[in-house]
Amino acid sequence: MIDKYRDLVEKACAVRTNSHSPYSKFRVGAAVLTTDGRIFLGTNVENASFGLSNCAERTAIFTAVTAGAREFEAIAVCADGTRPTAPCGACRQVLVEFGLEMVVLIAGEDGPDGTVKQTTVGDLVPDAFITFVDPSREGS
Ligand code: THU
Repeated sequence: MIDKYRDLVEKACAVRTNSHSPYSKFRVGAAVLTTDGRIFLGTNVENASFGLSNCAERTAIFTAVTAGAREFEAIAVCADGTRPTAPCGACRQVLVEFGLEMVVLIAGEDGPDGTVKQTTVGDLVPDAFITFVDPSREGS
């Protein structure tokens, strides 16, 4: 992992402790970095009706989008356990919406001092499903 993203990984691991995950007991944190340098955070939020649970990556992206952000440079994901856990398929598709070039840092609970995999959304989702995403569409 390049040093530039150390802080992003640390923030993903720190916010992981806010996770609401009483059912899986698997805490996940995410931190997304916009191209203009802002960072938005997310955790997984579970529900007694299991299917309503939201993953950390989607929480972070949805929070960023709600704040008006649209262009993302990188996202860090940090899950419980020392083995880095890659984003699920649903989250990968949500990331595709915002660019195949986005860097994805996948860390375990040891954060930047443990194993961190660095990849991109495009590498995680070959032959991605993309329809009409057009950055020139104002207000979309
Ligand atoms: N989870 C995430 O937050 N991100 C992923 O990419 C995979 C799974 C969460 C969902 C659920 O709360 C818990 O991990 C166990 O699946």
